[in-house]
Amino acid sequence: MKRRSMAFVGLFVILTLLLAACGGGAAPAAEAPAAEAPAEAPAAEAPAEEAPAEEAAPTEAPAEEPAAEEAAAAPAEGVVTLTWVGPGPGAEFEFRKEQAERWNAANPDIQVRLIEGPVSATDRYGLYLQAFQAQSTDIDVMQIDVIWPGDLAEHLIDFNEYGGAEAVAGDFPAIVQNNTVDGRLVGLPWFTDGGLLYYRSDLLEKYGFSGPPATWDELEQMAQTIQEGERAEGNQDFWGYVWQGAPYEGLTCDALEWVYSSGGGTIISPDKLITINNEAAAAALDQAASWVGTISPPGVTSFMEEEARRVWHGGNAAFMRNWPYAYGLSEGEDSAVAGKFDATSLPGAEAGMSAATLGGWQVGVSKYSKNPEAAAKLAMWLASTEEQKAQALSPNSLIPTKVDLYADADIVANRPFMPKLLPVFTSAVARPSTASAPQYNEVSNIFFSNVADVLTGEQNGTDAVATMELDLQDLLGYEVGAP
Ligand code: GLC
Repeated sequence: MKRRSMAFVGLFVILTLLLAACGGGAAPAAEAPAAEAPAEAPAAEAPAEEAPAEEAAPTEAPAEEPAAEEAAAAPAEGVVTLTWVGPGPGAEFEFRKEQAERWNAANPDIQVRLIEGPVSATDRYGLYLQAFQAQSTDIDVMQIDVIWPGDLAEHLIDFNEYGGAEAVAGDFPAIVQNNTVDGRLVGLPWFTDGGLLYYRSDLLEKYGFSGPPATWDELEQMAQTIQEGERAEGNQDFWGYVWQGAPYEGLTCDALEWVYSSGGGTIISPDKLITINNEAAAAALDQAASWVGTISPPGVTSFMEEEARRVWHGGNAAFMRNWPYAYGLSEGEDSAVAGKFDATSLPGAEAGMSAATLGGWQVGVSKYSKNPEAAAKLAMWLASTEEQKAQALSPNSLIPTKVDLYADADIVANRPFMPKLLPVFTSAVARPSTASAPQYNEVSNIFFSNVADVLTGEQNGTDAVATMELDLQDLLGYEVGAP
């Protein structure tokens, strides 16, 4: 499947980059035809921490493979063909595929080829960077993480030149602001994200807990009690808490929640001080490390979102940290937890200190695209209110960036958790991408690599935050300050 669609693309550069960026892990995963069960196990191979490997597995490159459909569908005169790098394999990709089909049917002059991107945001960033550095015309439309506008602005078109101001008029102003770099609108808000605590309401009741935990200590106790109880009843695969512990961008998100909800700050403050070297941050990391192998599976240190969700989805976890996309999927027919769960704010060191990391995605168009106008048109359609509504109601339950959709009757009726949790999303804590652009990606690498070493017991929290401080000073030259 993957090989075919790659050959279908027929773009050797993209292929090479994708193979390199995905490493060995993503290729087998992508073979899986199933909609919802992406990676068999990228888990085992933690995503690359550094820039993607140079060797691009040239022997595997199937670019020459004849692509029958493609040959048959050679673009007619006057037809523009765009390439859109979509999500990694999984339920969201299936939804995007259906969107691409709808677009193509309605726009005979602008056809889009959707290809799978890397699952890990870190790998995706590496892919884009290589394409941009080569000024590659192979990618037109791409999804941009909320943390990247500052890092990637110089390679993206300014939507203001294509009617973008009107397109973003109904979006949350803060998200539009985040996409505006030096007055240029480099991304269209597509969906927002915030870290949530998913919990098994049936099991909380069964073990006599009146509600979800407000503090990390409470979460530990509840997770331990439920895990012991469920195992005693025969489910040896049951775990208390699953989350994202692999060394990649997702770990930065989880760890920022631990640190910020303990009073340890945001790594770098908005006024550009390096604040991570503090006791609260160190203690938060040590506490998270204590979960590995106790209330969380030892393999959590190679979990991304989907690995965590699979354990949860199978009914084998009491609690899960994940993004809103997991809500809709957890309600699916194949879910062991449908009707038995809810989601709320994550705990804090003390009650009320809860923090959700702000996530989310934008649609961007490469400045090197040969067809920026057509690409901008597609991007504006993808980010439109109608399409945001469709993706919110799809099994992916993606959170709208259009304010009005929170009062939309269909959303209120079918996705009640969205308006209910809106305060969590709007008060989410941002990663320090603005304060460190265009070097946020390196900042995040320093942070998650050191956090990963704490989780695997290679260093303690105190040493980790001291190392981070030194490395961040070397990288950015900023002063040190209190959180
Ligand atoms: C989600 C978030 C994104 C974050 C990523 C990390 O996709 O929306 O902002 O960087 O997870 O894995």
